[in-house]
Amino acid sequence: MDLRTALKQGAKLLEDGGIASPRLTAEVLLLHATGKDRSYFLAHPESELTELSWIHYGRYLHQRLKRMPTQYITKKQEFWGREFRVEPGVLIPRPETEHLIETVLAECPAAKRIVDVGVGSGAIAVTLALELNTAVVATDISADALQIARSNVEAYKAAVSLIHCDLASAIADQSMELLVSNPPYVPELDRSGIEPEVKDWEPMQALFAGADGLAIYPRLFADARRILQPGGMFMAEIGIHQMEAVSIMLAAGWTGVHFVNDLAGIPRLAVATRS
Ligand SMILES: C[S@@+](CC[C@H](N)C(=O)[O-])C[C@H]1O[C@@H](n2cnc3c(N)ncnc32)[C@H](O)[C@@H]1O
Repeated sequence: MDLRTALKQGAKLLEDGGIASPRLTAEVLLLHATGKDRSYFLAHPESELTELSWIHYGRYLHQRLKRMPTQYITKKQEFWGREFRVEPGVLIPRPETEHLIETVLAECPAAKRIVDVGVGSGAIAVTLALELNTAVVATDISADALQIARSNVEAYKAAVSLIHCDLASAIADQSMELLVSNPPYVPELDRSGIEPEVKDWEPMQALFAGADGLAIYPRLFADARRILQPGGMFMAEIGIHQMEAVSIMLAAGWTGVHFVNDLAGIPRLAVATRS
């Protein structure tokens, strides 16, 4: 079987299985199975797959048909121009979370004492440690997530220390300059409407926060107030329709509260300064 035919057959299989972007997905899986890059593929579409590549490709297509996200199959996702290892057990970093990085770089580029709550794969913590050339303390309640975060921290030799705890409970230092977080914020009530790639494969603990999705914020804000120095900044991703509820929660004890929109115009990030 040559690459061109394998791609065609794979794309058809995915299309029949109702998978979005079937051709692109088949191409990503084929490249992953063969270990070739796209330019090789374009230059040599007639080259033959080895038996082993064919077996891998078949397995990947089968996994994707079971709605496993492509990133869990290839075990990687790009974030802020770097490749992060991801596996089931950790949330796949989302492009909209790059707004948090943009906002940190724009609003507090000199921050040195930084905490990331809910580190996941380490996408935020590693990126900030490298972009700001500083140390970051990062926490997560999931041991699986911390293990994957550790592999990314080591791969990039980033100055990130990882702590297994609930929110920022294990952090005693009260002179932090910046606390960032992409906490779980999906309402449990929305569960049935969520696509299978997310609902059936990504960790529940990374997604859901009570019936209305707001359950984590009050404790997160309290922890932020405890460990940030006066004038320290807080930035957290929020879910759709949560701006109003979050502004009420940030009414006391914070100044300069504002929200940053994503590219779709949805308020995505809550920003506040500890008063
Ligand atoms: C939405 S994911 C974000 C992961 C990563 N920061 C990112 O942006 O890709 C939320 C993360 O918070 C973690 N988490 C959930 N509840 C937590 C808690 N009470 N304390 C610490 N971490 C928590 C989850 O395990 C998950 O890794």
